[in-house]
Amino acid sequence: MRIDVLTLFPDMFQGPLSESIIKRARDKQIVDIHFHNIRDYSTDKHNRVDDYPFGGGAGMVMQIEPIATLIDKLKSERPYDHIIYMTPDGERLAQRRVNTLSLAGNLMILCGHYKGVDHRIREHYITCEISIGDYVLTGGELAAAVLIDSVVRLIPGVLSDETSALTDSFQDNLLSPPVYTRPAEYNGWRVPDILLSGHQANIDKWREEQAHERTLKLRPDLLGKSERS
Ligand code: ADE
Repeated sequence: MRIDVLTLFPDMFQGPLSESIIKRARDKQIVDIHFHNIRDYSTDKHNRVDDYPFGGGAGMVMQIEPIATLIDKLKSERPYDHIIYMTPDGERLAQRRVNTLSLAGNLMILCGHYKGVDHRIREHYITCEISIGDYVLTGGELAAAVLIDSVVRLIPGVLSDETSALTDSFQDNLLSPPVYTRPAEYNGWRVPDILLSGHQANIDKWREEQAHERTLKLRPDLLGKSERS
């Protein structure tokens, strides 16, 4: 998979996408992530990329020309499965969308800043608008990093034990059962006996029951959803 990120702040991605599992996926060239600084495409002699909103009001709006020039350039180089805009008024991100995006070959992700981008970009280029939750960040960069992390970990070969993604919380609209490791007792707090029993069928049954119980208690809204919703 190739991911092109369009941003005014490429350095914001250096930490989150350069460590651990995502770093390894990039090193193994399972995913190729490119960052493009929108400011490099400014047509203004002062390198401006934003301007006051028509009609007045607070905040600045990212101008159409630099973004359109950059998107047109990238689109002339390869086809994109999705051109995504990170925005708090987009579709709220959930595992189902992450699953479908993980099947893509080429993704483009546009990060907004200030009051967002000129709406004509959204009307004429964007195919998918995504929010990571009902709260407002200073820009789309952290949201894009969350999206990229969630998508890349599902690409085959990224997780060392591929089945571990299948048992993630949310894959069946269920939360995961609790997990424990050694020591079996700490401070008088014991791991559930069943996990030490060696009886795999009983352990699997217990985990399934725990997943249902935890979902019922913590996220009953998930139980009303069909597995595909
Ligand atoms: N940009 C600012 N806030 C955001 C959010 N919650 N999700 C996606 N992009 C954003």
